[in-house]
Amino acid sequence: MTKSSAPGKIILFGEHAVVYGRPALAVPVTQIHADVEILDSGRAGIWVNAPDVNLRAELNTLPSDHPIASVINNLFFLLRVSPFPNLEIKIWSTIPVASGLGSGAAVTVALTRALAAHLGHSMTEEQVNAFTYEIEKLYHGTPSGIDNTVVTYARPVYFVKGQSIETFKVGQPFTMVIADTGISALTKESVGDVRRLWINERSRWETVFDKIGEISFTARRAIEAGKNELLGELMNENHILLQKMTVSSPELDRLVEVALQGGALGSKLSGGGRGGNMIALVEPGRAEALCRSLKQAGAKHTIITHVL
Ligand code: MEV
Repeated sequence: MTKSSAPGKIILFGEHAVVYGRPALAVPVTQIHADVEILDSGRAGIWVNAPDVNLRAELNTLPSDHPIASVINNLFFLLRVSPFPNLEIKIWSTIPVASGLGSGAAVTVALTRALAAHLGHSMTEEQVNAFTYEIEKLYHGTPSGIDNTVVTYARPVYFVKGQSIETFKVGQPFTMVIADTGISALTKESVGDVRRLWINERSRWETVFDKIGEISFTARRAIEAGKNELLGELMNENHILLQKMTVSSPELDRLVEVALQGGALGSKLSGGGRGGNMIALVEPGRAEALCRSLKQAGAKHTIITHVL
């Protein structure tokens, strides 16, 4: 049997602007993860069992654009696997889908690693990352590559599209509360809408992206120096710019407001927006109480994560 796991992620700063070459910061969230288990099978075919999404099917019966079929078929093509072996593949994920927490990238990374290892192929982190990026492109239009990178390397990353991956040191560990609006939103759509804004008024949006890029740059320094108050202010500024970009929503804004009223040092949406998750920087002792307030205000789930 071969097993593999990959974490969820949050974007701390710079979503959307990262698609246009500005820096962004993201960290893994290990409390949520995708897990894959592979067994050789006595019966013919590749059987995929993903109970979380009610999927139990043989590979050839899945539509060719099904995300799991795409991973298996493209990986076997890349690794020149022929004929296809008989396998039982089990996939579980505790990462909510379409909520900006990297569920698609985590399933791809865990499935890719498990399949490659099971079939005796060694893949470097770089190869897993590059392959996952190709799969992300099939489903997200014009992804920057930040999601697959942070999920593959499972480390904090300072990411600039097309440049080598930089990780950063956390000067003083900090605590984030993640709150799910419960509203599914496709990153592809919000990214597409931002692209339309940009096409219509390039210089205006380039200026906004520049401001966000500066925020990410300053935030990295603040994290390295352990300046949490500054970090909180930068989150608030980033959220206002995301609102201007039309990717927030009344539900996200409400949770941001509740977080700030509950004593968070800063708060913003995280990921593609329009739904999905809000993040808030809090003193560790206030995290539990803030989760309760956020749930009373409509959050469907909350997670407390420590960035180390
Ligand atoms: C999605 O997690 C982050 C976005 O910036 C899209 C991307 O970077 O591909 C919205």
